[in-house]
Amino acid sequence: MEALAAARREAARFAKRVRGGLRRHARPSPSSQAAPPTAGAPLLSLSGVGKRYAVGPVQTQVLKGVDLDVKAGDLLSIMGESGSGKSTLLNIMGLLDRPTEGAMRVAGRDVSAMNDDELSDTRNLSIGFVFQAFRLLPRMTASENVALPLTYRGIDRMQALERAQAMLKKVAMGERVDHRPDQLSGGQQQRVAIARALVTSPALLLADEPTGALDPNTGREIMQLFHELNAVEGIAVVIITHDREVARQCVHNAELVEGRITRTAAPTAVAPAFTEADQQAAG
Ligand SMILES: Nc1ncnc2c1ncn2[C@@H]1O[C@H](COP(=O)(O)OP(=O)(O)OP(=O)(O)O)[C@@H](O)[C@H]1O
Ligand SMILES: [Mg+2]
Repeated sequence: MEALAAARREAARFAKRVRGGLRRHARPSPSSQAAPPTAGAPLLSLSGVGKRYAVGPVQTQVLKGVDLDVKAGDLLSIMGESGSGKSTLLNIMGLLDRPTEGAMRVAGRDVSAMNDDELSDTRNLSIGFVFQAFRLLPRMTASENVALPLTYRGIDRMQALERAQAMLKKVAMGERVDHRPDQLSGGQQQRVAIARALVTSPALLLADEPTGALDPNTGREIMQLFHELNAVEGIAVVIITHDREVARQCVHNAELVEGRITRTAAPTAVAPAFTEADQQAAG
């Protein structure tokens, strides 16, 4: 019982941290169900989106007019220098934060017209989010972590755990369902975080540097998983990455430069000139 109470307290703290997000609702609020998504609309559409942070007297304009559409079945990478605003942008796309300028629509619905409860419901129903630093709840097992978004939907605990375990199997974590995060490797924690993002069957998966903390082999396995989800299940995937190899494996590539998004050609794995020079140097 004490463990259960501790897990509940932990969950409450987590819910508070992810601003207004992951709020518990037995059912989506009536207002979020009222307006059906516009048929054929992009899953996500950003137009002139800006984000300004104020820390004391210092104002920082991180995003300066981002235009971006994500359509069903897209596989898009977003690259950019550290501090360029990638996580800021992904948090806005994942409805974890609001833009300070511009317009954003999710399945045709204007986000600025939604209150925090509607944002939480919309996120829970259509978006899976993989955080830059996993953000698993330390006192919960893998299956309890993955079941969490389902219990926020009001799904019965046993049923939620069953679905969580099925999802863990899908990401090759079926043997570790009762492990807590500190009993898992980094790559395994990342898989659990991915399972948690997928357990609600979202149309859109947003992943913030999902391979950043992993060794190259584990990173490739995670990318393989994203490819399968995209190609087989048709889930739209947006991946923030520093890794040109990861970007190269995506269908579309974008870069965040000076607060704006530019579409780029797929980067090559290794610049040809570099390879040639290498070959000459090798004699
Ligand atoms: N809550 C906040 N309050 C004030 N400034 C913030 C806040 N969050 C982010 N920033 C600032 O916004 C800028 C972009 O941060 P962000 O985390 O989006 O960068 P990033 O591109 O994801 O970097 P990295 O590649 O290192 O993860 C940084 O200069 C950061 O200091
Ligand atoms: Mg970041």
